[in-house]
Amino acid sequence: MPELQTTTASDLEEIVAAVPHEFEKLAGHRLLITGGAGFLGHYLVQAPLFWNRRTTPGRRIHVTVIDNYRRGVPAWLHEWSGDPALEIIEHDVTQPLPDAASRSDYFIHAASIASPTFYRQFPIETMDANIHGLRHLLDHCRMRPDDHRVKGVLFFSSSEIYGDPSPDQIPTPEEYRGLVSCVGPRACYDESKRFGETLCWNFARQYSLPITVARPFNNYGPGLGLTDRRVIPDLARDLLAGRDVVLLSDGTATRTFCYVTDAVVGYFKVLTRGRAGDAYNIGSERPEVTMGELAARMVDQGRALFGYRGGVVHGTSPDPDYMVNNPVRRCPSIAKARTELQFEPAVSLDEGLRRSLLWYAHAH
Ligand SMILES: NC(=O)c1ccc[n+]([C@@H]2O[C@H](COP(=O)([O-])OP(=O)(O)OC[C@H]3O[C@@H](n4cnc5c(N)ncnc54)[C@H](O)[C@@H]3O)[C@@H](O)[C@H]2O)c1
Repeated sequence: MPELQTTTASDLEEIVAAVPHEFEKLAGHRLLITGGAGFLGHYLVQAPLFWNRRTTPGRRIHVTVIDNYRRGVPAWLHEWSGDPALEIIEHDVTQPLPDAASRSDYFIHAASIASPTFYRQFPIETMDANIHGLRHLLDHCRMRPDDHRVKGVLFFSSSEIYGDPSPDQIPTPEEYRGLVSCVGPRACYDESKRFGETLCWNFARQYSLPITVARPFNNYGPGLGLTDRRVIPDLARDLLAGRDVVLLSDGTATRTFCYVTDAVVGYFKVLTRGRAGDAYNIGSERPEVTMGELAARMVDQGRALFGYRGGVVHGTSPDPDYMVNNPVRRCPSIAKARTELQFEPAVSLDEGLRRSLLWYAHAH
């Protein structure tokens, strides 16, 4: 068991306290997570291992992490590597699954390139992980013998499947069909998530498999690397270096942000309690902030935590596709997850930004 940094330890406490029934279901079972070395893997993997510390060996949740480790094995995963309930496998999900899959009871398919900067650079790899990678997993589940059926499968889709929603569809409910381009620099991601959902819906229906889908809306927090080119780490990188934070847009697009502990609680709820074939928005409904306001809030947190003295300036990205098809507003309705799964985000935006900055300051 690694020595956990303060923010990580208290975040893990919060997650396991919020999913007692969900982890009871997973107790004594094997959970395989593809893409588990990424941002969301940081807490999806650590939360069950952390929960195991308070249980008996026979009830441990065994976690198998599958990843191609394109960006290396992250330090947090390396630190857990001696844990008897953790198995770390290097594997590309576009290839048939390794033997460890046949021992698993629950599956989470999170492998994908998720940062817009990187999926624009590697569009084919992005589509392959979401389509062929998912297909290998679903085929594996469908061919299981009757005495060893899978107990749950969660596919990570995205809020991007809604594209750039029309204003009357904000907050966006799951029934909204989206306003999405099938070509252009974002389509590799949006459309492969959409097709992934179609695969899930049909496999769930045709083979009576317990497959569920989560649609994350802008998660952030510990585990999201400073070099990942998503907006919060980009701003945090400037702030921690003591220079002005640079917004690479006019700052008017709006988003809601969901702190990662709340989101991970939501994902375990969808995995263990979601309805087969169904998709659930997982995010925060408010506040819906402009990128300018987000930057200003981070600056305020930086002042309070570190005596930061910079401000917000505007710049342009060297990437000509940076803003192409970028949604103007994104804000979920989480009524379905709230009603069916008792999902309720608890960490305010300012508190989440505070914890994130503390984690970045410590981890980098
Ligand atoms: N973080 C968010 O706010 C958010 C929002 C919407 C959707 N999602 C989805 O949730 C999932 C996890 O997101 P994340 O933020 O942790 O992403 P991430 O990019 O941080 O992690 C994804 C992981 O998948 C691995 N991977 C990619 N292709 C692979 C392949 N072919 N074989 C094996 N491993 C591969 C990467 O090495 C990486 O470790 C993704 O499917 C993403 O599209 C995340």
